[in-house]
Amino acid sequence: MNQSTRFLNACNRQPVDATPVWLMRQAGRYMAEYRALRERYSILELIKTPDLAAEVTLQPIRAFNLDAAIIFADILTLLESLGLHLEFVKGDGPVIRNPVRSSADVAALTLRPPEEVLGFTLEAIRLVRRELDGKIPLIGFSGAPFTLASYAIEGGGSRHYTLAKGLMYHQPAVWHAFMSKLAEAVGLYLRAQAEAGAQVLQMFDSWVGSLSPADYREYVLPHSRRAIELAKGNTDIPVIHFGTGTAGMLPLIKEAGGDIIGVDWRIDLAEAWDRLGSDVAVQGNLDPVVLYAPIPEIKKQAARILDSVKGRSGHIFNLGHGILQHTPVEHVAALVDFVHEYTAEGYHQ
Ligand code: CP3
Repeated sequence: MNQSTRFLNACNRQPVDATPVWLMRQAGRYMAEYRALRERYSILELIKTPDLAAEVTLQPIRAFNLDAAIIFADILTLLESLGLHLEFVKGDGPVIRNPVRSSADVAALTLRPPEEVLGFTLEAIRLVRRELDGKIPLIGFSGAPFTLASYAIEGGGSRHYTLAKGLMYHQPAVWHAFMSKLAEAVGLYLRAQAEAGAQVLQMFDSWVGSLSPADYREYVLPHSRRAIELAKGNTDIPVIHFGTGTAGMLPLIKEAGGDIIGVDWRIDLAEAWDRLGSDVAVQGNLDPVVLYAPIPEIKKQAARILDSVKGRSGHIFNLGHGILQHTPVEHVAALVDFVHEYTAEGYHQ
């Protein structure tokens, strides 16, 4: 066995020769190669120029021994494709100038074929697949309806999601209409990425942990389920369903769908897997801040995670959330190699 099959085998809970590892947000500012490109291009220019997006996707693949690539894009371009005005403002993160607050705002959103409005990412996927030449698989991704809705309604990042939850509680019909539209857009976008060549799909519900389990069930779960069903179509493409702060609602996340459930570090990985059941694979869950620690501490914590799920099939090693901006690259290299070395011999028998 080798790296071309390791990640896909783990996604399907099949035997592997070593535990596969990739890192959420593995392309980005912690890498000098990325910063060099960012001096010449904005983030949206990088995403919308397929050659550049392909190049950025491949930067971490050249630098580290990763088992999967993830296409370079952002969850928020999908909102732009619906008619929202997206800007990345230095220091402030993403800003949406015309946030969604009413039923008229929802009605004004236009669902167009992904090939027309997000074709740059689909083209980047085709380019990366050609470059990778089967050596490792490529992941496509989208935000989940709730996380996208929270950006669209708040107009940017948020601490308490008061506007998003406000729409949910005060105007539930408008909320559900908006979420239905997002579910459709997310599902079609993921399906299009699979058709362009993405071999695994990840749906990021980064902020879903801000909800109570009851609100998740009522206001979010049906829409996430719809998005995942559309993404899969009549194929068996593996879908990773990722969220943070989901310890209190793991069975609901599973109910919404996904072959692999991504969890953060606020729950013990083995305990998360026990709650989910052995009929799904899991992805996670090192605290990204641990990558700032000395290498022996990083290895100790990675070993603890690996020991806790030894003997089970379907673990994909990852961080519990995206890699942080000031992460030392040599720590990333040490982590990736350690996961392989630690699990190569004896571990998977
Ligand atoms: O994983 C990868 O390597 C693919 C690239 C990727 C980006 N964004 C590029 C990016 C992925 C998977 C994302 C997903 C994304 N984007 C999420 C979900 C994952 C998560 O971390 O929860 C979210 C919530 C966003 C929204 C977003 N994009 C924010 C809040 C910001 C600004 C804050 C920040 O981290 O700078 C972005 C910008 C962004 N997207 C950057 C990158 C590399 C940094 C921008 C820059 O280069 O200046």
